[in-house]
Amino acid sequence: MDTYKAIVSKRDVRHYTDQPVEGEVLQRVLQAGRMAGSAKNSEANRLMLITDQAVQDALVEAGDFASWIGSAPLIIGFASPAPLLRLFDVGRQAQNMMVAGHAEGLASCPVTLQHADKARAAVGLPADWEMPMIITMGWPVADAPDSPLKRERVALEELVRHNTWS
Ligand SMILES: Cc1cc2nc3c(=O)[nH]c(=O)nc-3n(C[C@H](O)[C@H](O)[C@H](O)COP(=O)(O)O)c2cc1C
Repeated sequence: MDTYKAIVSKRDVRHYTDQPVEGEVLQRVLQAGRMAGSAKNSEANRLMLITDQAVQDALVEAGDFASWIGSAPLIIGFASPAPLLRLFDVGRQAQNMMVAGHAEGLASCPVTLQHADKARAAVGLPADWEMPMIITMGWPVADAPDSPLKRERVALEELVRHNTWS
């Protein structure tokens, strides 16, 4: 898949087969995350690879829209010391990994963990660390239902402004 097609065809998918995400494909996904730049080159984020069912089940409780995540073969959490947490950096790493995975045939979806204490406890983070976002990843099932949230993106004419607001 060429780069542009991988970027514009990536959609968020929440239904996966039981097949694990491992080996060279996983390494390529992780390298894609590693190479994202970070504010002040701080590289503060650490990637938590979560395949253990008990840990995944605990993470379900940390998100308000995360009831389904326990069925993913892989969850990747973005953990950072709280003072160094930059969601822009997390987003860059996450999108790099999701697009790289998509190019390999993997499906994925970002998920918010609104409850910092539960997320911290689920994966045993130090007290001053946070993990506000995860992505789920796996091989897509053939006949997955569309997300109820699925719709067209806003038109470019609405999205883009030139120079000033009006
Ligand atoms: C920052 C962010 C947080 C999100 N949090 C959740 C979430 O908590 N649970 C969930 O199921 N999807 C979550 N999503 C996925 C969005 O619902 C999805 O990106 C949106 O519906 C577009 O999906 P599409 O690319 O398949 O059209 C999140 C996406 C982003 C970018």
